[in-house]
Order: sequence, then structure tokens, then C-alpha cells
Amino acid sequence: MRIGLAGVGRIGAFHADTLRSLDAVDQLVVADVDAARAQQVAADRGLEWAATTDELLDSGLDALVIATATPGHAPLLRAGVAKGIATFCEKPVASTLDETIELTRLVEEAGVPVHVGFQRRFDQGYRRARDVVASGELGFVHTVVAHTRDSAPPPAAYVPTSGGIFRDCNVHDFDIIRFVSGREVVSVYATGSNQGARFFADAGDVDTGAALLTLDDGTLAQVSSTRYNGAGHDVRMEVLGERGAVAVGLDDSLALRSLEDGVDFPHGPVTMTFMERFLPAYRAELTAFFDVAARRSPSPCTLDDALQAFRVAEACEISRAERRVVDLTEIKGA
Ligand SMILES: NC(=O)c1ccc[n+]([C@@H]2O[C@H](COP(=O)([O-])OP(=O)(O)OC[C@H]3O[C@@H](n4cnc5c(N)ncnc54)[C@H](O)[C@@H]3O)[C@@H](O)[C@H]2O)c1
Repeated sequence: MRIGLAGVGRIGAFHADTLRSLDAVDQLVVADVDAARAQQVAADRGLEWAATTDELLDSGLDALVIATATPGHAPLLRAGVAKGIATFCEKPVASTLDETIELTRLVEEAGVPVHVGFQRRFDQGYRRARDVVASGELGFVHTVVAHTRDSAPPPAAYVPTSGGIFRDCNVHDFDIIRFVSGREVVSVYATGSNQGARFFADAGDVDTGAALLTLDDGTLAQVSSTRYNGAGHDVRMEVLGERGAVAVGLDDSLALRSLEDGVDFPHGPVTMTFMERFLPAYRAELTAFFDVAARRSPSPCTLDDALQAFRVAEACEISRAERRVVDLTEIKGA
């Protein structure tokens, strides 16, 4: 297949490495609004590059991967779908709820395969958690705990267009809570704080967030995030039930040390980046995308999945701003 990759910054350059190692990819063409960056990424890897994303879209692609900064997702997704090109789009698919709803309808009507990049759905630990919940072995589930803690903040320029910590960061937790529990969120209470760099507050964002979600079966989900987890990149989930409890991400790479006598767990090395934490999952999601693009499988993460996670993030931003519980019925797009 001939694949176009739009956006070769942090995650885009990383996806370029994964894509060129996959058997399904015969040709990989990259483009970026920063043409010099596209040229460099292509030269470093022996790839083709296009001077603009329009040129990329007109270059006879079988499938498109969108990994630009968030504001670039919606226009490229619209353009790809208009040309009937199967598209993988990094999360979040758009910067606003209205645009996410519009794109969801557009993709449904067009019938073009689209897969959204929530890679945790391809992580073995999260997949086992979903199976354990579905099997009923935990009895009823009363509590889910989900964390996304980055070891260091992103560059200042990333923050104003990121959508804020709940849309940019915890949106992964909201998606995976839906995936693992099989339930929908009905209400949220969220808060946040800033003790780090000024650029978070200047963008109206927070560097640390927390949210309490109530799911439609009464399960309570506690979600937290920070851009300042100096110990390492810490992404985990606990699912606690009537008859048992399981954890995802609880292994020797854990970015946490015990103060108890005689405990030498974890043994390290600590995971410092999302690339290290989810390397196999990113590979699995892009591999799965080619089955979606070839119409052999339905999308494992649809626009509607992305919309439902985004609605929870939207509710969290309203809750944080207005300091109140927000019911999901207040948020469009159900
Ligand atoms: N799934 C994940 O785990 C994960 C991890 C990191 C980032 N992301 C998402 O991926 C996206 C990119 O994040 P990043 O950290 O790589 O950002 P980044 O700022 O490092 O890179 C973005 C790149 O996109 C280019 N770009 C911006 N607008 C463009 C446009 N309209 N057309 C073409 N190129 C354009 C920039 O020049 C830059 O090279 C964000 O939406 C982010 O939310 C997802």
C-alpha cells in the first residue's frame, strides 16, 4: 500500500518509523506544514516527501495517517474522506465538540473507513482488563482508577492548541474506561491546578487534573493527570470489584517507589515516555488500521468512540471552570 503521513513532529516521526517497518506498507510519503522538517524526516529514513499536504493527498494514496498538531486533524480528515481515502487520525479528531460531531456525521455518511488513534485499546494489559470485566470474575465493579502522568511537560507552543489537559491527555483515560468497562459516563466532577510553568495558566489550562466520573451502572471512576511526574511516565488502571481487583501497568517499569521495609519492587528500568510505554500498542494499532483500510475489519475505534470520549473531556472542562457536577446530558452528541 502507498501510505501518506501528514505531520512528522513528535508522534508523526515515531509513526513514520513504525509504518516503514510494517509489511503492508510498500511506499510511505511524508508531509508537514514545516516542509523542511518533512524533507529531513524523509531523508533520515529514505522516504518520499511532498512539499504540501495537498500534494500528499493528490499523490495516489491508498491510506492516510494524520499526526499533525490537533488543529490540522479536522481539515485533513475532511479532505481525505472527500477523496475516499481510508484515514487513521490521531486523537483528538478535532479541537471542538461541534467539529467532532460534524466529522462523525460526515464520516458515517461517506462510508470511508476511519480509525482514531487511541492506542491503549491495543495494549495487552488493557485488553485483559476488558476480558476480565466481561467474564464477570470480579463480580460487580464498583471503582475504576485511571492515571495519565507525563514525566515532563510538552513544549510551551504545544499547549495553546492542545485543547487542555482533559481533551489532550485524559481523553485516553475516558476512552479506555469506556472500552474496559463497556459502560457510558453519566456525570463528572473535575478540577485542576497549576504549580508548574506559567504557559499552562496563560493558555487557560492546568498542569495537573483530577476528575470523578459516575458510569451508567453506578461504577465510580477516579481519573488523574499531570504534566509533572518527574519519576517517569506513569499510565495505569485499577479495576476493583466485589470479588477481585486487577491492575494495568503495574510492572517493574513503574514510576513509583515503596517506602516499606523489605520491598524492592519495582526493579526498573522506569518508563519515561509514552513511546516506550506503548511501543507494541502503537505498532498493533497501525497494523490493525491496514485491515480497516482494506475493509477486512470494522474500525476498532470509530469517530463515535472519539466523540463520546471527547464529550466526557468537554464536561470535565465545564466542571473545572464552573466548579460543579456536569451531567453528560448537558453535552451535545449523545
Ligand atoms: N496517541 C498518542 O499517544 C499521542 C501522543 C502524542 C501526541 N498525540 C497527538 O498527535 C498530534 C501531534 O502531537 P505531537 O506531540 O507530535 O505534536 P508536535 O507539535 O511535536 O508535531 C506536530 C507536527 O505537525 C505539523 N503540523 C501542524 N499543523 C499542520 C498541518 N496543518 N499540516 C501538516 N503538518 C502540520 C507541525 O509542523 C509538527 O511537525 C496531537 O494531536 C496530539 O494530541 C497522540
